[in-house]
Amino acid sequence: MGNPKGREALVKALSRVAGLGPSLGEDLWKIGIRSLQELRESDHEELYARLEEITGKHQDRCVLYSFRCAVNDLRNPGADRESRLWWNWKEKEGRVKSLKELVLKNRSIRRFHGEREISREVLLDLVELARLTPSAANLQPLKYLLSWKRESNERIFPKLRWAAYLKDWQGPVEGERPSGYIVVLGDKRVSQNFGYDQGIVSQTLLLGAVEKGLGGCMIATVDREALRRECELPEHFEILLVIALGYPLEEVVLEPLGPEGSVKYWRDEKGVHHVPKRELKELLLFL
Ligand SMILES: Cc1cc2nc3c(=O)[nH]c(=O)nc-3n(C[C@H](O)[C@H](O)[C@H](O)COP(=O)(O)O)c2cc1C
Repeated sequence: MGNPKGREALVKALSRVAGLGPSLGEDLWKIGIRSLQELRESDHEELYARLEEITGKHQDRCVLYSFRCAVNDLRNPGADRESRLWWNWKEKEGRVKSLKELVLKNRSIRRFHGEREISREVLLDLVELARLTPSAANLQPLKYLLSWKRESNERIFPKLRWAAYLKDWQGPVEGERPSGYIVVLGDKRVSQNFGYDQGIVSQTLLLGAVEKGLGGCMIATVDREALRRECELPEHFEILLVIALGYPLEEVVLEPLGPEGSVKYWRDEKGVHHVPKRELKELLLFL
């Protein structure tokens, strides 16, 4: 049962975390949470599943929303009032329910709510997904440089080139810039050839981000030498891609290719970003 004093103190501390109260504090103790730090690093879905398992009872979904709210509160101290209310963590309309929805929602986003921060833990969750992806010969030669603080974000941003087809747009303005970056690096000490691994991890990172309500863009047009100098990256790292991340501000729509068959994306007068996609029948061959 553990030290009763320790239990009392922790349940009390847990009760003060947004979304929780004494009863959920007790539940968290029951499922083995022994510090706020441990809760901060937990996955709310796992906590919920563990509680159902340990109690042998179905738990109301409110418990899941409360855990989600609490974990977020610990990860983002000073978050706004709305995000400290558990009912704001219910499944939202538009929350993705299938892989197709996730893939559809995962559009390249280049304008963000710059004021909304991304925490280090969110980036770690994403890299954890990348860690689980396939890798040629299982060499796993990729490494991930993370940036989530304003100061380091500002060092990366000028090294990136945005939306080459939008000739009259120089990239997101101040206030609409990404809140974080994952720089995908190839470690030449592990392999000289990174093949397809970078594409697989990049899409996985972005799908994971979209699932969390974020959005982003893969950026391959990077001033690599300038970025290497800025980040003091040793020569054995090759800069492969930069994944820019943040809370989406722009609307992106898919559409069929126009009459001239152009694949160039474009922006209309309302700022909606249009992306032509080839039709399925154009992509297929049959034996
Ligand atoms: C490997 C790769 C590199 C890319 N590099 C850039 C880039 O340097 N700058 C940019 O703004 N977008 C970049 N993009 C985003 C593409 O422009 C985008 O995927 C394309 O316009 C289709 O839009 P969608 O992702 O919404 O389907 C890149 C995408 C991929 C897959």
